[in-house]
Amino acid sequence: MPTDFPYYPINEFGPAMKGMAIGGLGIVHVFLAQFGIGGGLLLCYFQWLAQTGREPLARQFIDGYFKFVVLVSFVLGAITGVGMWFMTIQVSARTIGAMVGEFHWVWAVEWLFFCLEIVAGYCFYRYGPRLDDRRRMTLLAIYSVASWFSLFWINGILSWQLTPGRFLETGVMWDGFFNPSFFPSVIFRTITSMAIAALASFLVVNILPEFDRAQRTVLIHRATHFLAPALIMPVLGIWYFMVIPADSREWAMGGNVPMMMFFVLAIVCSTLISAYSLVGLLRYQLYINAATATLLLVLAVLATAFAEFVREGVRKPYSIRGYMFSNSLMPDDIRRFREVGCTHDDPYPLRDADSYPNPQVALGAHVYRNLCSVCHTPAASNGLTHLTEYWDETQLRLNIAMLQRTKPFMPPFAGTAAELEALVQWLRWNNDGKPATWTESHDEATLQQIQAWLDEAGTEPWVAVAAEGRR
Ligand code: HEC
Repeated sequence: MPTDFPYYPINEFGPAMKGMAIGGLGIVHVFLAQFGIGGGLLLCYFQWLAQTGREPLARQFIDGYFKFVVLVSFVLGAITGVGMWFMTIQVSARTIGAMVGEFHWVWAVEWLFFCLEIVAGYCFYRYGPRLDDRRRMTLLAIYSVASWFSLFWINGILSWQLTPGRFLETGVMWDGFFNPSFFPSVIFRTITSMAIAALASFLVVNILPEFDRAQRTVLIHRATHFLAPALIMPVLGIWYFMVIPADSREWAMGGNVPMMMFFVLAIVCSTLISAYSLVGLLRYQLYINAATATLLLVLAVLATAFAEFVREGVRKPYSIRGYMFSNSLMPDDIRRFREVGCTHDDPYPLRDADSYPNPQVALGAHVYRNLCSVCHTPAASNGLTHLTEYWDETQLRLNIAMLQRTKPFMPPFAGTAAELEALVQWLRWNNDGKPATWTESHDEATLQQIQAWLDEAGTEPWVAVAAEGRR
């Protein structure tokens, strides 16, 4: 019986696990995109300062700063944005497919806003210095409203991945879009964008040769106003934490050590930035030189990196909560793959099929690729060899059969008992240093034992079992 499962070719990235490869790029992209959005708002503010005569230096600042926004955020933002699509189709084609499928028109609208942003930005870049104040403001307003709305649209889709909310019952697109974490995250990201834009402006005024120190001080203090909204970040953070699923919350709060570490680090970096900037600048009127500005920006990149890592991490075992697992399987696929196997209908052969000592070990490698490789590598980051180094055969069989109980952030095992045994043999062969020969294992009693464990574990993820109090 064919499974109708939409197989896609699976690419691996050497020692980096796929999540890290996409996460690394995603962090750069998010940072640049937020810089672009905050930058637009900051430019509108300075244009207002210029045309109301409040700040004589503002106009000069705008033209200098805008070049950075264009060069950095447009060019690198666009390249990393395309890079994100390129990576997602390799890491989880089915997840991105579901995101496009469920939110088809939202993407279309988002791209329209993005287009508008580029056109307005380019016009300002080309003609801004020659235009009068009213026209400059119009272009900057279009630029920043359009870029903020591209955040608005994309935020609905990204927050849906973690908290799909009523969508899971109704299937209504807007229920998914305005999901429980939509508002806390869109406000949070807006404030982050403003903070990043202010920090970048500290660096830019130090680099622009046309300003002297006194003028720089004036401009820096104007831009500092954009850091003030960051004061309500803790409240937004708590709001966000209240709406995300309980198990996700627990992992960031100590249930998963790396996750909690990153969470704490994100808070520490953000607090350091806010404390230095607000106390130092507002209270003691400190001057920020290029080195300090760079340091603050680096802290902001780190805070973004840690926060995005946690946001992505706490979604495990799902890529779209309650809908699709990180390894691209949907709950029904797990039930079917328990019957027919996860490799049987896969049209994509192993790339290095000749390098295994026997067909069973090769099958195990195939099972690993289809079920585990999205979160593990064989021997590098989150490497299975290290994790199972001291496990004997029985432990391997039992713990993999009950994968969702072994660690609740793993999906249930989705294959037959024979596939599980093949995976175990592949792991043991790896742990043994990949010898040239290896004996196949087809013991009937062992397979029956594995089947009994699989049946006991069931096909539901542990997070769902725990949520209903059946733990
Ligand atoms: C959704 C991501 C994800 C998937 C898919 C996944 N794992 Fe894991 N797995 C993890 C994480 C995260 C850990 C925790 C690593 C740690 O504790 O350092 C882990 C831990 C483990 C461990 C060690 C458990 C322990 O108690 O120390 C084993 C063994 C393991 N995974 C095997 C597998 C196998 C085999 C598959 C495929 C059938 C798989 N995993 C699929 C994310 C995943």
